[in-house]
Amino acid sequence: MALMTWTKEEFGTDVPVCDEQHQKIFAMVNQLYETAAGGDRNAIGKLLDELIDYVVMHFQTEEKLMQEKGYSGYAAHKAEHDKLVATCADLQQKFHAGQAEVTQDTARFVCDWLLHHVPKVDRPYGPALSA
Ligand code: FE2
Ligand code: FE2
Repeated sequence: MALMTWTKEEFGTDVPVCDEQHQKIFAMVNQLYETAAGGDRNAIGKLLDELIDYVVMHFQTEEKLMQEKGYSGYAAHKAEHDKLVATCADLQQKFHAGQAEVTQDTARFVCDWLLHHVPKVDRPYGPALSA
């Protein structure tokens, strides 16, 4: 069973590009969750790298839109993004150095982060960014 399911009711932001990217991120986290169970380190590493690249691109998309619209919540929002990217970059570096493993708990951590961030931090930008 998939770890994460995107629904418009729970996660829709009214910003189509962000909704598309969120759906892709949810699918990538689900894939990482499944692959992590099998323990194929090469496959896990590839998915981890792809997920982090995509999430970084997504954060840039949101930050650019927030700046263009002069969104008042920009600084606090960017701080949440920066914190996750720092955590992920640290894990990525340790994983590739053989000093850490990526398990289903890792996917659960990212899932939990998104279950907070998308409804509570992303959704509030909807009216400002879609205006
Ligand atoms: Fe965000
Ligand atoms: Fe987002």
